[in-house]
Order: sequence, then C-alpha cells, then structure tokens
Amino acid sequence: MAVITGGARGIGEAAARRFAADGHPVAILDVNAALGNALAGALDGGAGGARARYYDCDVADAAGVEAVAERVQRELGAPAVLVTSAAMIPNTESIMDMDLAAHDRMWRVNYFGTVHACRSFGRRMIDAGGGSIVTIGSINSLLPLPLPAYNPGKVALARLTQLLAAELGRHHVRVNSVAPTYVMTPELQARIDSGQRDLGKMMGVHALDTLPITADVADAIAFLCSPQARTITGVLLPVDSGWGASVSYMTYSGGVPWDRARTSGGA
Ligand SMILES: NC(=O)c1ccc[n+]([C@@H]2O[C@H](COP(=O)([O-])OP(=O)(O)OC[C@H]3O[C@@H](n4cnc5c(N)ncnc54)[C@H](O)[C@@H]3O)[C@@H](O)[C@H]2O)c1
Repeated sequence: MAVITGGARGIGEAAARRFAADGHPVAILDVNAALGNALAGALDGGAGGARARYYDCDVADAAGVEAVAERVQRELGAPAVLVTSAAMIPNTESIMDMDLAAHDRMWRVNYFGTVHACRSFGRRMIDAGGGSIVTIGSINSLLPLPLPAYNPGKVALARLTQLLAAELGRHHVRVNSVAPTYVMTPELQARIDSGQRDLGKMMGVHALDTLPITADVADAIAFLCSPQARTITGVLLPVDSGWGASVSYMTYSGGVPWDRARTSGGA
C-alpha cells in the first residue's frame, strides 16, 4: 500500500498514478479535497484493480496525521511506501521583509509535515517488517537560492532523510529523497507567464535543454521504492536535467567553451 502526502496534485499526483498503475492500493493525503477525491475516483478500480482513497489531512497537524494513519491502515492495510510530497512553494523573498507568519507556516507544512508523516507511517512500516520512504527534496537541498523559508527547509529535509535512513535501516525501512530541479507543471508555466520565473535564466543553468515533468520524478521515486534499489538508502537522487553539473560551470569567469569559440570566431 502506498501513501502519498500532497497526492492530489503535481509530483504527488504523478506518484499516486504510478503506484496505482503498478498495482498498489493508494492513500492520497491532501488538503485539496476536490482534486484528491477526483483523483482517487479516477484511480480506484482502474488498471490492475488497485484501490485508491482520498484522506483529508493537514500534514502540519501531528495528531491529525496520526489519526489518518490509523484510518488508512484499517482501510487499506499496512504502508509499504510513503512519499512525502505535501508542500508549499514560495516566490523569491527578502529575509528582512518576509512575512514571519508565512515563513513559520511553510516550515510547519514542508519540514514538520514530513517529520509527522515519517513518524506515523514509519512506525507502521517497522511493525509490518519493512517499507520504503521517499521524501521530496529539491535543488534547494543543494545550494542557496533566495527562498528563505523553503530553501533551508529543503536542506533540513535532506539531513532528516539521512537520519531516518540510519535509524530505520535495521527495521528494513529504506529512506531516500529525490531532488528535482524546476518541474514543468501548470503552476510553473503560470509563474513563467506572470513573470515570477524567467525561463531563459532557468534553461541557461541546465545541461539538458528540457526540464523534468512530474512523471519523470515519479519514475525516480518508483525506482527508489523498487527491489532494484534494495541496497540504496539515505541518498538524495537529483532529477535535475544536469543542473547540479552545470550551475557553477556556467558562471566560470573564463566563459564556457562554446561562448569562447563563438567570440574567438571558432565553430
Ligand atoms: N514543482 C517543482 O518545480 C518542484 C521542484 C523541486 C521540488 N519540488 C517539491 O516537490 C513537492 C511537490 O511539489 P509540486 O510541484 O507537486 O507542488 P503542488 O503545489 O502541485 O502540490 C503540492 C500538494 O501538496 C498539498 N498540500 C499543501 N499543503 C498541504 C498540507 N498542509 N497538508 C497536506 N497537503 C498539502 C497541495 O494541496 C498540493 O496538492 C514539494 O515538496 C516541492 O517542494 C517541486
């Protein structure tokens, strides 16, 4: 049985679709009941006859997550997979000017929410004899970006993933993270269209000329949960179109080879 927090939309939705297609019963935990119920309805009884249910759950509320975990186990069985995709995604902010209440709420959802889900479902995996957890990091887990609540939260999640991997390994629970770059979702497209993200700047720091879509991230998550990854735990797997390889390379003061070739008249 696969539990997906933030499963109503985006990367979580793609993960829910992938695990359902692979035959897992799927529990979609989210605060967007309209989207969550619609997705569960579409997946329930679909390919392979997998079951899917929506559960209204604010991951920031530890007691609420525990109550939902109890219900999910009763209705769908013990969790074999947990994907923690519930999160808030901000725009650029100054630390001096940011709204502190919004800052604190983002930590409560993105970081504390992951802790809550990992505790409630991780304990049940231990009782069941094993499982696989995938947290959702980001390129923000790797370098400073001007998102003062989100960026350090993603660094903290990367470390939490390692701590959980170290603690739960002896219980046969593997814990890994994926670190996507900008994922081409309708929401990102809207941010590009409204000028909140600069597509040219974005593409200028990736090795590949295409960004991941949600299904690419779901494929990486499914791999980490598969038997093929049975000895992989505590890793942060970039799904980043070569952002990690390129982002500092592109800023080298001597220029990059193709620019030098162009300015010196070469090919
Ligand atoms: N989209 C990207 O470009 C990108 C890049 C790197 C990492 N990520 C990470 O991937 C994950 C998913 O992002 P996404 O793009 O799919 O976002 P999204 O906004 O499309 O989906 C997030 C889901 O989480 C739900 N959610 C929000 N607050 C919640 C709460 N308190 N309790 C339960 N559910 C809640 C939302 O309702 C939504 O369904 C996040 O951790 C995000 O940081 C996204």
